[in-house]
Amino acid sequence: MASHKVLIAISIVSFYFSLSLAFPGFNPFWGGFPVGGVPQWSLYPEYYQFSCPQVDEIVMSVLEREIAKEPRMAASLLRLHFHDCFVQGCDASLLLDDSEKIVSEKGAVPNKNSLRGFEVIDEIKAKVEEVCPGTVSCADIVALAARDSTVLSGGPTWVLPLGRKDSITASLKFANANIPPPNSTLQHLLKLFQRQGLDEVDLVALSGSHTIGMARCVSFKQRLYNQNGDNEADATLEKSFYYTLRSVCPRSGGDNNITPLDFTSPTKFDNYYYNSIMQGKGLLNSDEVLLTGNDAKTMDLVKSYAEDEQLFFEQYAKSIVKMGNISPLTGFNGEVRKNCRSINEDI
Ligand code: HEM
Repeated sequence: MASHKVLIAISIVSFYFSLSLAFPGFNPFWGGFPVGGVPQWSLYPEYYQFSCPQVDEIVMSVLEREIAKEPRMAASLLRLHFHDCFVQGCDASLLLDDSEKIVSEKGAVPNKNSLRGFEVIDEIKAKVEEVCPGTVSCADIVALAARDSTVLSGGPTWVLPLGRKDSITASLKFANANIPPPNSTLQHLLKLFQRQGLDEVDLVALSGSHTIGMARCVSFKQRLYNQNGDNEADATLEKSFYYTLRSVCPRSGGDNNITPLDFTSPTKFDNYYYNSIMQGKGLLNSDEVLLTGNDAKTMDLVKSYAEDEQLFFEQYAKSIVKMGNISPLTGFNGEVRKNCRSINEDI
């Protein structure tokens, strides 16, 4: 009887061991033991160690070239990861174009005429497909591109868990509902972050992404001309900054004129974003309210990150890994798209 039990135990262990070899990411011994009979998969940094060891190098080499050509591209790619993860989780749903089955998230209010960098993701994907066909997901490429863009802009690096699969759906509705608008109150920002399992610390640290990149006039115009429905400007705006912004962004027209989110160092990932907020020079309402939204905790965090860049970098790395873990598709869920713009069935 005892030997019978040992045999059963050995069979179970070898079954799960074979599964873990066949499906990297399925780990029966660590965080992966079946819960309620359903095998669990988890993301982990070495996911492509054997199946596509070249992926890191390919991503970095494309980015080095593209960001040298146009430094803003780093910011645009970082933002793609955020807008992907806040809608159905980090599953590359954002990259899908309109088709018979898909209503693209690219048409959502926060994305339309605003998101950039899709061609760079296509270029990376094409190069990765040449070397390791059908192996590296678009969702992981977006996450890797976000990290390497941060590094190439002078920011922190982080160990990135991998193994996300790509979705076969997109959600225009959730893209409109989940991505925070720039005129949000602090309460609304916190609510939308909490919906994704992110807290106040994550909100303040991840908003620090606005240390790089640009915004269109339409994203902050309300602050210049009609902040509270009384045809007055936002009183928290520093005066000289206010006049500079008015010259970029007239009362009527010019909605697509662009200006840096961090005036002092728009292509350098540093903590100057927080210093700007302290001086009344945060560009978006959502930046400003981190300091003036009547919340002692976010206010203290802005001050701490303004004083201590290292502290900001350390928290940023933790928070973006947390963001990258939002509801990934793993194991048998989702697919590895051949082309990031369409589901495999449509190719
Ligand atoms: C806290 C809530 C946030 C709001 C309300 C917000 C809103 C915005 C808006 C309105 C723009 C300018 C878009 C345009 O005018 O075309 C922008 C740009 C940007 N956002 Fe955010 N964002 C938020 C959080 C984040 C997070 C969490 C990240 C990254 C993890 C991020 C990364 C960026 C980057 C890098 C840019 C510049 C993009 C470029 O130059 O192409 N943002 N954001």
